[in-house]
Amino acid sequence: MNIHTYEKAWLVAAMVLIVGFMATITYGAVGPGIAMIDDDGGTIDPAEINDHERFGEPGVEHVGDDEYEVAVVAQAWSYTPEQIEVPADSEVTFYVTSRDVTHSFSVVGTNVNTMVIPGQISEMTVRFDEPGEYGILCNEYCGEYHHTMEGKLNVVP
Ligand code: CUA
Repeated sequence: MNIHTYEKAWLVAAMVLIVGFMATITYGAVGPGIAMIDDDGGTIDPAEINDHERFGEPGVEHVGDDEYEVAVVAQAWSYTPEQIEVPADSEVTFYVTSRDVTHSFSVVGTNVNTMVIPGQISEMTVRFDEPGEYGILCNEYCGEYHHTMEGKLNVVP
């Protein structure tokens, strides 16, 4: 009886180690630091983007006192909308998805830098205290005109 209990304990210990190793690998791959893939936003059928409540009409939505949500659709080789305008002193959550291939959504000079994968919604929140102009770039090679894929974020006073 006692030996069985020992065996069981070792089995459990081995399982815990295996799960621990796997968790370490996953942790190393997806976070923390710069979030490469942030799929907190959930999933989406790329074919249904036009009918989606958030992405059917992408753009800026005022959702609270100083809170804004911005829906962006990435496609080869542009973002919709191309220009985003939010007021300073606001908390902005970006929801980004792709219509076709893998892109990225990177707001230069901020920590917003996320991969945009078809079927997934990338979600990132950032605070903008000061007015400013930011370029938005695609950092993920997405075809012939990848280098022309850009947008603009204006944080206005
Ligand atoms: Cu989109 Cu590179």
